[in-house]
Amino acid sequence: MKEEKNKPTVETSKKGISRRKFLKGVGIGGGVLSSGILGSTLVPEQASAQSAQAPQARIWGPRAVPMELTVNGQKRSLELEPRVTLLEALRDSIEMTGAKKVCDRASCGACTVILDGHPVYSCSVLAIEAQGKNIQTVEGLAQGGGLHPLQAAFIENDAQQCGFCTSGMVMAAKACIDKHPNPTKEQIRLSMGGNLCRCGTYVGVAKAIVEAAGKHAASAPRTGGPNA
Ligand code: FES
Ligand code: FES
Repeated sequence: MKEEKNKPTVETSKKGISRRKFLKGVGIGGGVLSSGILGSTLVPEQASAQSAQAPQARIWGPRAVPMELTVNGQKRSLELEPRVTLLEALRDSIEMTGAKKVCDRASCGACTVILDGHPVYSCSVLAIEAQGKNIQTVEGLAQGGGLHPLQAAFIENDAQQCGFCTSGMVMAAKACIDKHPNPTKEQIRLSMGGNLCRCGTYVGVAKAIVEAAGKHAASAPRTGGPNA
């Protein structure tokens, strides 16, 4: 007990450091240390001066904010919370239910739409991020009452069964033939690699893409020299 009584503690040690001093030291040292980890040698005063000069990031929400989406060439004005995904905006606010919510975590491709020419998983894009971009959905493919050649080719080649993956497949296929007018097997495989079909329609889908690409190429206006 005698030894315990005489043992210096952090609080009472005269020679050592008090807990208050210790915590103050850690606070300052921690600031320097953490900026050192980030590759900076700024002391706290410099860091706070720098952050005061940095442009303030604009914060949206959490309540609904106005936004405008361009879907299949039409502007749609919406009021949505910034956390709303493009898929939810399409399905719940614009009533375009072609894109399907299946995994809702960027795994299956059932929600694929085309954003500025690129196929994307709409469950993993925020609606607010899609503003100012051209959004194409399966609803925009059929024109003048006729099916798009890809839609017709999917039917011809039995490329759908339950249909849950189909609109996503069609949009990924559309992006494929837009990019590769005469796609090779490898280009089809790579373009469709992000779209899963639990019913196993892959062979029919590949045939449909080849058939639609052939029709697309045959109907394209010829340009070039007299023998083109
Ligand atoms: S629902 Fe978006 S990838 Fe599956
Ligand atoms: S047709 Fe059923 S999941 Fe593809």
